[in-house]
Order: sequence, then structure tokens, then C-alpha cells
Amino acid sequence: MTQSGALPANRPGAVRVRVPAKINLRLSVGAPRPDGFHPLDTVYQAISLYDEISIEHADRLRLTLDGVGADILPTDGTNLAVRAAALLADRLGVAPNVAVHLHKRIPLAGGLAGGSADAAAVLVGCDALWGGGHDPAELAVLAADLGSDVPFLVIGGTAHGTGRGELVEPVPAVGPWHWVVAAADGGLSTPRVYRQLDALRATGAAPPPTLPALPDDDAAGPARDLAMPSLVPDRLLAALRSDDPAELAATLANDLQPASIALRPALRRTLDAGLAAGALAAMVSGSGPSCLCLAADAADAARIAAELTERGVCSAAHVAVGPVAGATVLT
Ligand code: C5P
Repeated sequence: MTQSGALPANRPGAVRVRVPAKINLRLSVGAPRPDGFHPLDTVYQAISLYDEISIEHADRLRLTLDGVGADILPTDGTNLAVRAAALLADRLGVAPNVAVHLHKRIPLAGGLAGGSADAAAVLVGCDALWGGGHDPAELAVLAADLGSDVPFLVIGGTAHGTGRGELVEPVPAVGPWHWVVAAADGGLSTPRVYRQLDALRATGAAPPPTLPALPDDDAAGPARDLAMPSLVPDRLLAALRSDDPAELAATLANDLQPASIALRPALRRTLDAGLAAGALAAMVSGSGPSCLCLAADAADAARIAAELTERGVCSAAHVAVGPVAGATVLT
């Protein structure tokens, strides 16, 4: 907001926003909290696989889509992008009258936070259009009401995430790191993957959490989460400041991977094919089913992507670099 609290005049016309997918370089998942969410200690990175969103003033709030999954995604108030516009309008005390168009490239329900990315883009774009004047840190606080990954997609870059993932602190990272994103046919439900992890842990089929159980003290809220000691290994932080992808590869880890593979055993083939093609590391992205390969350089990434496609172990292979900026207004 402006110092006086008054809104600057509406920006005329339309805005275009570009928003990246997120990956987790490391994802430690604790036992479920009383509210059902799992405490996380994670390192996010934004990568150059983008959705593009255009937003313009309209007579009412409406959403249209094209691209990946446009035929199955809802366009009503259950879409996180619509909720983001309504939430910001309510906060600013304006009518939520915008036409939002999503051009989707980020695979759906793929462990890449595509829906959260669109919500972050709408927050950033509507704030520009309505003259809200919020900085990214302020929008990130608002974003936490929409989903655990939304704050990170406002901030972008590389960041340490705690709480249920919504508390984000930037982490210095050099890069560019070269990734191959192997998309799968059909998504995986995030809640289902978390439940599967709990079930695997209950039978000893997945390692127990390394995150300490939280004290049952809800009153402490986010301050308590921030006070938790970070689980991010020094080796990962050092790797991010180096230009050595092999060092980064050695520190990648995802607690959700056994759960995703249990629900979608074919992912094992995708990961094995990535390693056989020369990836420095291969792992499931977030809750999956997209898989990530870290490549030594851009040429290797292109070669690995071609090989994964040729072997038929993914529905599409995208090359991407990280870190990149979070949701950004282009015009
Ligand atoms: O925060 P978001 O709405 O994106 O989360 C979707 C679902 O994923 C939650 O309803 C919950 O089932 C699961 N989740 C979780 N722990 C987290 C984040 C998400 O259990 N830290």
C-alpha cells in the first residue's frame, strides 16, 4: 500500500504476468500436524517453465484458459486464480472485476505447483492493475491464505521454506542449474501422496521423519515455525553458491519420493532412464509425478530430454534453468 493508505489510480489497460514452476531441491516432511498439514523444511527453486497470465479490467470477475489441461480445469470460484483475485480485491476494498486468461504450460497436478503459480501471478498482476502498491514480501503474506506454495512463487529464486511451506526466506544461489522436467501422463493428488507417506512410515516402509515433532503450541504460530532449527545441510547451501552441479546433485533429496513411486511405480523407470542418460541426479518433483534430472550443462540437458522422450518414459520432457524470478509483470 502507499504511505497514505490510499490506492493510486487504476492502471489502464491490461497486464501480462509470467510465472515459473517450482521444484524442491530438498524436501523434508514431518509427521502431520493437528490441522492435517505436514511441517516442511524445504529448499525451493523457481525454474524457467512458465505459465503466462493476462489480466484486464472487465465488468465482472471471469477466467478463461488455454494450453495444458485447459479442457479439465475449473473456471469458477474453485480455481485458485479466481480466489486470488477475490482475496486481493477484498483486501484493497475494490470490486474484483477482471478478466483473467491463463496460458498454461506447467504440467497439471505434477508436483510443480502450477495452480499455485497461477494464483501468485494473479496476485502480482491484479496488484499492478489495481495500483495496490504491495511489495513481494507483503503479497507473499497474503499468498499464504491461498496455498502452501503460493508465497514462494511470488518471491521466486531459491528459498528456504518452513511451516507448511508458506514461510519463505531467500537463499543465495548462483547457477544457472540445468534441469530436465519429465512430465507424466495424468497427475497425482498432493493430499493422497502425503497420506501415502504417512502410511509407508507407519509400516516402516519409508524412513521416519528427520523433522522433529512440533510442540503442540498453536498460539506460537509462524514465529514458532521460524524458530525451528533449519535442516538444510551446509553442503547444499555451499553447493548453491558454487558452480559445481555434481555437488548440488549429491545433496538433492525428497521425502515424498517413496510415496509417489508407491502410487505410480512407473516413475522408477523414468528416474532410471534419466540416470542412464547421464543425469547427475534424478528425483521426483515435490509430490510428483513429474521427475527432475539435474544435468551438467545445457547441452547435456537437451540430450537427456531427447533420450527420455525417445524411450517413452515420460509424456513430455522440458529443459529449464533455475533459479529464475517469481511472478513478474511483463507489460
Ligand atoms: O497448501 P495446499 O492447499 O497447496 O496443500 C494441498 C494439500 O496438500 C493439503 O490440503 C494437504 O493435504 C497437503 N499438504 C500437507 N502438508 C503441507 C502442504 C500440503 O499435508 N505442508
